[in-house]
Amino acid sequence: MSTAVTTSRSDGAPANAAPILSARGVTMRFGGLTAVDDVDLDVYPGEIVGLIGPNGAGKTTFFNCLTGLYKPTEGQVTFDGAVLPPKPRRVVVAGMSRTFQNIRLFANMTAAENVMVGRYCRTSSGPLTSILHGPKFRREEAETKARAEELLAYVGLAGYEEHLARNLPYGHQRRLEIARALATDPKLILLDEPTAGMNPQETQEAEDLIFKIRDSGLAVVVIEHDMRFIFQLCNRVLCLVRGKALIEGTPGEVQSDPRVIEAYIGTGDEESDEPVADEIAREVRTDEADDFGDGPAPGAGSHAARPDHQDGDR
Ligand SMILES: Nc1ncnc2c1ncn2[C@@H]1O[C@H](COP(=O)(O)OP(=O)(O)OP(=O)(O)O)[C@@H](O)[C@H]1O
Ligand SMILES: [Mg+2]
Repeated sequence: MSTAVTTSRSDGAPANAAPILSARGVTMRFGGLTAVDDVDLDVYPGEIVGLIGPNGAGKTTFFNCLTGLYKPTEGQVTFDGAVLPPKPRRVVVAGMSRTFQNIRLFANMTAAENVMVGRYCRTSSGPLTSILHGPKFRREEAETKARAEELLAYVGLAGYEEHLARNLPYGHQRRLEIARALATDPKLILLDEPTAGMNPQETQEAEDLIFKIRDSGLAVVVIEHDMRFIFQLCNRVLCLVRGKALIEGTPGEVQSDPRVIEAYIGTGDEESDEPVADEIAREVRTDEADDFGDGPAPGAGSHAARPDHQDGDR
């Protein structure tokens, strides 16, 4: 599989390119708790950036700040050269879409209808044409339906168009959320734990889908607890701990940084009860054994023996 980004800077970011997303000094406070603390992030077209950190590190809150769900207490988000107002609809129209850690589908609507909902930010029929079902509305509705079917096939859900979202298996629901996000024609897609609760085969399929999305020219930011997934998938990784950016760099740099290991497993030598901590520790040992840590090109390396993710949604 091709690598869309030339990672010639030391932190893995592409040289001579303008970021599609620039977050500067993003801070989110809830009363006395600073969930996100002065975080910067640049995302370049055609790259996959991983966002990791222990539970409660502020990853989802950071996504919520980027996508206008939360108005950051401080800081600024620039997308495609313009400062983004913290309003979800404006963010989606600008070209940034997302999926959610806890799946948020319209449970009693079909798979096709769920994707069509994502498409409506790109249609122009007003309330009157919609009520009257005029020719413009009917033409746009047919186009929207055709695009929804195309996207369902793209994410591997061909044949499920008329299935109710609530009846789909869990892994299919996650794919459906991605199809709905893609229906908005994004330039950047943010995925919050896209493999949570998936079995190893579903995880591998999700990884292939994310590569396919990246190869179509989109930038991707992905939150994951599955370290093998993150280190195989990403061009760069940002690690948050207690709301602060601990380190940003290539997968190799992040995976071998003692502070990252400490953030997950503490300072003791004993194996932690936390499966994620053990997983990152295993990844580091693998790195020492087979020199995996130079930051594998996305798509390279074995997809086998992927550990099942047990965290579920939070
Ligand atoms: N709306 C809110 N009001 C108050 N506190 C919040 C709110 N949302 C998040 N928090 C707190 O902010 C901190 C960061 O939470 P967040 O969900 O962003 O973490 P996370 O890194 O996504 O964790 P996980 O890996 O468990 O999903 C937590 O302490 C959480 O309890
Ligand atoms: Mg989260």
